[in-house]
Amino acid sequence: MRQPIVLLCVVTLGCGASSVDRVDDILALSADTARGADLFSEHCARCHGEDGAGGSFPDIRGLDPETVIRNMLAGPSSMPEFGDLPDADIADIAAHVDAL
Ligand code: HEC
Repeated sequence: MRQPIVLLCVVTLGCGASSVDRVDDILALSADTARGADLFSEHCARCHGEDGAGGSFPDIRGLDPETVIRNMLAGPSSMPEFGDLPDADIADIAAHVDAL
């Protein structure tokens, strides 16, 4: 009985650490805001609006890249998760939101 529980902890901690690393990896990329604007229209604008002001969804204009990346990876409550996007796309979208 003991061994599977220990193993589960190791696996769980491993996942936690790798998602933190991923945020840092994405933050370290140099981002392209023009490309980010196109990706934002494609993935985010239907809820947060083309200008990021939101309407019935949160106003995300000017949020710092780390917050945007964390929300994209976590998908809080009714927001979908965008962890399947390539790191470069996430970095570009975060840079665009920061500039809104
Ligand atoms: C289906 C609608 C939907 C889509 C699409 C969507 N979001 Fe969201 N988003 C939400 C909702 C709802 C929340 C509020 C979640 C909560 O905290 O309860 C939210 C919250 C956020 C927050 C946190 C706001 C804050 O003040 O902390 C950020 C940042 C964000 N979204 C960015 C994005 C980005 C970037 C995209 C595109 C990749 C995106 N969202 C796509 C619905 C959406």
